[in-house]
Amino acid sequence: MKALFNLLLGVLFSISAFGQPKTLDNLEAKTLDETASIETIAFGSCNNQEKKQSMWKYICRNRPDLWVWLGDNIYGDTENMALMASKYEKVKNAPGYKILKSISPVIGIWDDHDYGVNDGDKNYPRKIESKNLMLEFLDVPLDADVRKREGDYQSFLLGEGENKVKIILLDTRYFRDTLTADTISNQRYIPNRTGDVLGDVQWEWLEKELTNSDARLHLIGSSIQVISEEHFFEKWANFPLARTRFLDLLVKTKVKNAVILSGDRHIAEISRMDLQGLDYSLYDITASGLTHTYKGKSEESNRWRSGKLLQEKNFGIIKINWSEEEPILTIEVRGEDNDLFMEQQINFNSTKN
Ligand SMILES: [Fe+2]
Repeated sequence: MKALFNLLLGVLFSISAFGQPKTLDNLEAKTLDETASIETIAFGSCNNQEKKQSMWKYICRNRPDLWVWLGDNIYGDTENMALMASKYEKVKNAPGYKILKSISPVIGIWDDHDYGVNDGDKNYPRKIESKNLMLEFLDVPLDADVRKREGDYQSFLLGEGENKVKIILLDTRYFRDTLTADTISNQRYIPNRTGDVLGDVQWEWLEKELTNSDARLHLIGSSIQVISEEHFFEKWANFPLARTRFLDLLVKTKVKNAVILSGDRHIAEISRMDLQGLDYSLYDITASGLTHTYKGKSEESNRWRSGKLLQEKNFGIIKINWSEEEPILTIEVRGEDNDLFMEQQINFNSTKN
């Protein structure tokens, strides 16, 4: 069956290579069925529409039940909305992405570049128009809750019975306070010690999403890294009060089996920390980027890192084994040719795994 599927994929990709877009145009996007079982989730970030969109065929080989965009889905970086729309069109028309969309429903959140400005915050003037373009790119239904409120945070409860996963996607841009450039130390920004990332309404929403959820697994997408804190790029650690508030909220709500997914960094790494009051280790899995990577330094300090720092183009895969009392996750970071770069297991059955 798998061989047949791969053969079909190969045929579709070779059709696209020979320039017969009609076949691809006829592919129907797979819509999100909230009751369908979820066993394989693929995710990634940092996709420059001007660069080769070559990763999609390797992602397809994993037959994900869902694709999650974690931000910088395009490099918009403009206040010109027609230009931004044309950049989204480039990705939307990429043959490989069309094929992925026919296999997997797609959900997502933005980061700074697709929001509209590098390292952007609440002051970006076109954020309402930009949000609408993003929701259009993601084919978000016109009656979806996210269209009726500010920001593009969303949650999805997927699966049935005991095997439900809740995916919470946070908006770390629309309400984010400002940062001041640090011209003295080797950090890019001076931490905003009183500043916020999510804004009051999103905090309230998040607490509700985490409280009394009947999902057995919670995946929380944050475009910027939550746990890693030593590097000088964007991170929750630039807003220490908000970072502590977020971690405290996970403890306070006793959210069942939560894992953070992040992007933005043009590297891949897995960070892990133990929080007092949470009976499992908290992981932050960073998968970035799809079309380019950061190779400025061969090493980067992260005291929370579990495993290695990866500086190859990559995407993430989560395989969920629902058969035990608590889910067991196999985390994979893969790249071109579907090569496996990293693999780790998160077993929620063992305390502080
Ligand atoms: Fe970013």
